[in-house]
Amino acid sequence: MSKLVDNLINNNLIPLKPYESARRLYSGGQDWLNANESPFSNHYEVDSSNFNRYPSCQPDDVVENYARYAGVNPKQLMVTRGADEGIELLIRTFCTPGQDNILICPPTYGMYAISAETCDVGVKKVLLNDDFSLDIEGICNTDNVNVVFICAPNNPTGTPVAKSQLQTVLNHFANSALVVVDEAYIEFDAQSTWVDALADYPNLVILRTLSKAFALAGLRCGFTLANEPVINALMKVIAPYPIPEPVAQIAATALSAQNIQRLDEQVNIINNEKQRLTDALAKIDEFTLVGDTKANFVLFRYGQSAELMAYLVSKGMLIRDQSKQVNLQHCLRVTVGSPEQNDRLLGLIDEFRSQTGASK
Ligand SMILES: Cc1ncc(COP(=O)(O)O)c(C=O)c1O
Repeated sequence: MSKLVDNLINNNLIPLKPYESARRLYSGGQDWLNANESPFSNHYEVDSSNFNRYPSCQPDDVVENYARYAGVNPKQLMVTRGADEGIELLIRTFCTPGQDNILICPPTYGMYAISAETCDVGVKKVLLNDDFSLDIEGICNTDNVNVVFICAPNNPTGTPVAKSQLQTVLNHFANSALVVVDEAYIEFDAQSTWVDALADYPNLVILRTLSKAFALAGLRCGFTLANEPVINALMKVIAPYPIPEPVAQIAATALSAQNIQRLDEQVNIINNEKQRLTDALAKIDEFTLVGDTKANFVLFRYGQSAELMAYLVSKGMLIRDQSKQVNLQHCLRVTVGSPEQNDRLLGLIDEFRSQTGASK
């Protein structure tokens, strides 16, 4: 860093490194099974006739269409630049820098901690139990917390969160913290949504995205669902023009009745492929499946995970190494791809095992 930058930079940013997103780690590759994206690429068209104008802060048709899709009132919803912006806005709106904390339950999605750290907000960690359920006692014994992040289904373990556990957490923090349920992968386990509980819990917040089942990771469009007072507070912090006009047009189209039917069909296909991939990985002697498969990925443990990862990368097959996450030593996460990609992955694993002399 230059001397000027060294002198000026926010002190709390000095120890931080940029988030190692899947796309930052590997820019090349042929098969991308490392970011839990959809294998489907759907076609959209945009109308550029209004591109000389600033867009609406919260485009009406996107708000209305998503509210209808999710079964909430449009006033209970905010559109953001991906669910990641929702995470950051929640922290900036409800935590005072240098003073307040969020609570996370690792192993889990990395952006909760990164966003908090960049905002100089503390991160309290209560590890998941060995079976990846919530450590309720640990969570309820943690004080001075303003926002609790719970990912369900959890990334990278693919596990759901039991209803009774979440109810306990919501009740425990009823008067002291927001409980944010990150439902980025909810379409793959649709009946587990917490959307119907919004009316019962003023402290419940739900995060959603178009990046996963909707096959629009490149669009950067997400949603925060909550009761009106929470949404109104977040509106104080969101940028004036957060949703670019082309994003709004495509998001509104993706949320039409016809395209939601297509979404359901694509989710079915991915869930069927997930079962096939899971069965095939489970049959490999030295592999142990880890967690559950409620999302669009499979997690497994393998003693030679580092060597296998390097081999797959050398063949342009990108998956995600999770072995640095707490309690996930030697674990690799594979996004469910197209049937061809999944077959290629299984073929490469087979090849690697024969080269290293593993039994068939
Ligand atoms: C659990 C979870 N939440 C949020 C996100 C980010 O979603 P978005 O692309 O909408 O920012 C991801 C992306 O991988 C995720 O896994």
